Amino acid sequence: MCGIVGYVGPDNGGKALDVVMEGLSRLEYRGYDSAGVAVLAGDHVETRKRAGKLANLTAALGDSPLPASGTGIGHTRWATHGGPTDQNAHPHRGGTDGKLVLIHNGIIENFHALRAELLEDGVVFESETDTEVAAHLVARAYATTHDLTEAMRQVVQVLEGAFTLLAVHADQPGVVVGARRNSPLVVGLGEGENFLGSDVAAFIGSTREALELEQDQIVTITPERVSVVGFDGRPAAGKPYHVDWDAAAAEKGGFDTFMEKEIHDQPHAVADTLLGRTDEDGHLVMDELRISEDDLRAVDKVVIVACGTASYAGMVAKYAIERWTRIPCEVELAHEFRYRDPVVDGNTLVVSISQSGETMDTLMAVKHAHDLGARTLSICNTHGATIPRESDAVLYTHAGPEIAVASTKAFLAQITACYILGLYLAQLRGGVFADQAPAVMKELQQVPDKIQTVIDSMDRVREIARFMADTRAVLFLGRHVGFPVAMEGALKLKELAYIHAEGFAAGELKHGPIALIEPGQPVFVIVPTPDSEHGLHGKVVSNIQEIRARGARTLVIAEEGDEAVVPFADEVIRVPATPPLLAPLLTTVPLQVFALELATAKGLDVDQPRNLAKSVTVE
Ligand code: F6R
Repeated sequence: MCGIVGYVGPDNGGKALDVVMEGLSRLEYRGYDSAGVAVLAGDHVETRKRAGKLANLTAALGDSPLPASGTGIGHTRWATHGGPTDQNAHPHRGGTDGKLVLIHNGIIENFHALRAELLEDGVVFESETDTEVAAHLVARAYATTHDLTEAMRQVVQVLEGAFTLLAVHADQPGVVVGARRNSPLVVGLGEGENFLGSDVAAFIGSTREALELEQDQIVTITPERVSVVGFDGRPAAGKPYHVDWDAAAAEKGGFDTFMEKEIHDQPHAVADTLLGRTDEDGHLVMDELRISEDDLRAVDKVVIVACGTASYAGMVAKYAIERWTRIPCEVELAHEFRYRDPVVDGNTLVVSISQSGETMDTLMAVKHAHDLGARTLSICNTHGATIPRESDAVLYTHAGPEIAVASTKAFLAQITACYILGLYLAQLRGGVFADQAPAVMKELQQVPDKIQTVIDSMDRVREIARFMADTRAVLFLGRHVGFPVAMEGALKLKELAYIHAEGFAAGELKHGPIALIEPGQPVFVIVPTPDSEHGLHGKVVSNIQEIRARGARTLVIAEEGDEAVVPFADEVIRVPATPPLLAPLLTTVPLQVFALELATAKGLDVDQPRNLAKSVTVE
C-alpha cells in the first residue's frame, strides 16, 4: 500500500525523474490509485500528480515536462483519507512559498486535531488528506530551524499513528529526509547517489546494497552521505545488508503476468525455503532462530496470527503443529487477536505469518503479544521488514519477491516454513514425532518436483476456467488440511475474478451450506489422500455424492490413482501422492491456476485486482 521513492544524485545530468518513475513502476505491485512526483527546480519544487495508474502520470509529464534535477521524490497512493483524485495525490506542499513538498505512507491518527489548529492559524488546505497536515507542519518547523532533518524531527513528535514521511526543500538541494514509525522505509546505497524506498524493489535496478532502519528514526540522504538519527535526536546507524535477488527476479521472466510467473516459481519457493534446514542426519537445524532451545521447550501454547492467505497457511500449520508436537495451537486473524483479551503468557509462542512483514494488523498483533509477555516468532518473506524486526525470532521464507497482489508462492513457502517450525519443535521436545522429523523432511524435499508435475498438467484446468468465465458463484469444500485450501481457493477467485466464492469445511455442508446447491452449481472438492486416517477420504467421497445428487457440478482434486472419486466427479484434477499433512502444497496449485485463467478470460488485471493492495500497511 502506497509506494515511496526518494533519490539524490549529481545535479548535472539530473536523472531524478527517471529514477523515481522507474522506482514507482517497480512499486506498482503494492497497490495504488493515484501517483505523483516532485523534483527540485532552482528556488522551488515542481510536482506533477494524477489520479489513476502511472500511465496517467506519464501522460501528464509528457504534456508538461519536469526539468532535469538531481533530487526527487515520488509516490503511489492508496486512498485512505480523501478519494483518489489529482488533488489528494501526493506530493503535498507545505507553506505558501512552494519550497517544501512531502509524501507519506500510513495514517496520521490525530490529523483532525492538527488540521483544526492549522486552520485556526489561517493555513489553507488544498486536499482532504492527513498528509497535507504533516507537510504544513514541516514547512512551519523549517521556517524556524532552516534544517529539514531537524524540522522533520520536531514534527514527528506531535504525530500519532503509523507513517513514513519523505520531504524535500528547495533551500536544501541534494537532500531528501525520511522518517519512519511502524511503516516501511529502506535506504539504497549507491556511488555518488542514494535512494529511499518503501522496499528494495524501488531501487533494485540501481543498487543491491541497502540499509535497514529501526523504528522511530529519521534518515537524511545526500549524494555522498546517509545519516540516521532517532526521533530523540540521538545519532544512530542503520544496518547494512546485501539484497540477494536481482532486478530480473522482480520482472516477469517471459510470462504474461507476475501471477503466472509466481505460480511457476513455486517449486523453487518451496525448495529454497527448505534449503539448509537439516544436518547430514536429516535433523533440523535452526541457526537463525533467536529464541533459546530451553525457552522453546517451555512453550505450552502456540498462537498463530496472520491475515488473509497467510492466515490459511496458519490453519494448515495448526494441523501439523498439534499433530507433531502435541502443543495446543490456535490460529487467529491478527486484527481480531489485537482487540480482545487473548490468554497468552511467557510460555506462549505467538507465531506471525506475513509475506510483506509490513501488514499493520499483524504488526499490531505481534506488539500486543509482546506486551503481554509472549515469545514472538515471525515467518516472513521480506528481509528486514518491520514484523521480523519487532519479533524475538524470525524464520524467513525464501519465495523471492512476490509482485502480484494475490499471494501464491508466498503461501506455499509459508506453509513450508510452518512445517519446518512444527518439526523443529517436535524434535526439541522429544515425543513420538521427534524421531520422524527426518523422514518428514525427506518427504518435503520431494514436494518441489511434485508441484512442478501439477503445474505441467494444468491444461484441462485452464480449459475449465475459460469455459466458466460467466459463472456467478463457485463453492470450495475440503476437510482437515483441505479446509484451508478450500478457503484459499475461494479467496483467489474472489480477489482475481470478482466472483462470489465460498470455502467450507466439507463436514459443515449439512449444517447449512448444502442449501446453496442447485443444478449446475460448480463445486471444487479437495479430496484427502486415500491413506488418510479416520476414514476421512470416504467421508469426503460421501460429501461429493451428496452434492452431486442435488445437481452440483463437481470439480474434484484427488490423488493419482484415487479411483473412488471417479463415478461422482464431473472433472477429476490429479495431484501426485503425498503424505496427508503435506497435501496443501499440491492441492492449492490447481485452484491458483483456475482463478488466474478465469480472471484472464474475463479480461481482468490479475496482477493488480481492483481495490486491493499488496502491503496492507493501515489497520
Ligand atoms: C491474498 C493476499 C492477502 C495477504 C494478506 C496478508 O491473496 O495476498 O490476503 O495474504 O493481506 O499479507 P502479508 O502476508 O503480507 O501479511
